[in-house]
Amino acid sequence: MLREKYKKALVTGGAGFIGSHIVEECLRQGLEVVSIDNYFAGKKENLKLLHEQYPKLEEYNCDVTDYEGLKKYMEGVDIIFHEAASKKTICLNDPRKDLLINAGGTFNILELARDFKVKKVIHASSGSVYGEAKYFPQDEDHPVNPTSYYGVSKLAGEKYVRAFCDLYDMDCTILRYFHVYGPRQESSDVGGVVSIFGRRVLNGQAPKIYGDGSQERSFTYVKDVVGINMMVAETEKTRGEAYNCASGISVTIEELATLVKKYLNREDLKNIYDEWTVGDIKNFNVSNEKIRKLGFEFKTTFEQGLQETLDWLRDYVGGRQ
Ligand SMILES: NC(=O)c1ccc[n+]([C@@H]2O[C@H](COP(=O)([O-])OP(=O)(O)OC[C@H]3O[C@@H](n4cnc5c(N)ncnc54)[C@H](O)[C@@H]3O)[C@@H](O)[C@H]2O)c1
Repeated sequence: MLREKYKKALVTGGAGFIGSHIVEECLRQGLEVVSIDNYFAGKKENLKLLHEQYPKLEEYNCDVTDYEGLKKYMEGVDIIFHEAASKKTICLNDPRKDLLINAGGTFNILELARDFKVKKVIHASSGSVYGEAKYFPQDEDHPVNPTSYYGVSKLAGEKYVRAFCDLYDMDCTILRYFHVYGPRQESSDVGGVVSIFGRRVLNGQAPKIYGDGSQERSFTYVKDVVGINMMVAETEKTRGEAYNCASGISVTIEELATLVKKYLNREDLKNIYDEWTVGDIKNFNVSNEKIRKLGFEFKTTFEQGLQETLDWLRDYVGGRQ
């Protein structure tokens, strides 16, 4: 249990999709939790029920680019889960923003972690740091040549993490996420494809596929991602290391559309096809050997994760969450 090692966790992006699940698990394990979010994408409703259950949750509206603002919440923090980031879809329209948030915000978090003697920083990175695949399966030693502004800014964040780790002997770990899905993921057009398809089908609209649907995604259930964060929090073996957090499950977008329609009993809906998205990556084959060797077991099958996600979404779209 985390409680044996830590008393207080700070989760940046705590009102967001993955962040809110990390907040929940830390609370469940008995920690005091401070959530920091600027609510650009995060939602108060993601933490609402947790406030009712756990008095140890504090929630603040603060931007990770605001060093002085963040400083106010650092007292007593002994572990940081750094999830706040500007998303890929936003970066395309405003690349300066991801530089400031994803690189600058990470720098702020690291400086504060150093100055407040935080025991551990777990940094959420992304598979986007790799860029075009040079070989399969892509392991953590694969060259990093990001092809998007988002990927560049996430890589800059990683480089700062490594620099702080080396320069100040800090215990930091980088987790590279891939296609995470689950309850609370945004289902509007800027959300994840599982939630977008789910919402469309629940609203009686067919899934809209960009390209022919043969593109693969390495879907990873959010609870497995939380499990990795917890395992990493418990160990000192991951200091300065980066890990791919990919389930190894590969599903095409066409298969996803079929499953979503099947689970929601709307097999009558005919998929809509549109032009390929520029730069869309067609094949994913990511190695998760390193995190498995550390002892992590991906427990959720795609069918289970999809069912839980769609059950949640049905309630959410129906206004019951
Ligand atoms: N979901 C995925 O498939 C995926 C894949 C790769 C990497 N990631 C990484 O995982 C982390 C969490 O992503 P998510 O999917 O939960 O997305 P999300 O958008 O739901 O969560 C990010 C949170 O950060 C907050 N935020 C954004 N800018 C901020 C700022 N300047 N200051 C404070 N808070 C800010 C948002 O409001 C949001 O609540 C991010 O670092 C993201 O880059 C996610």
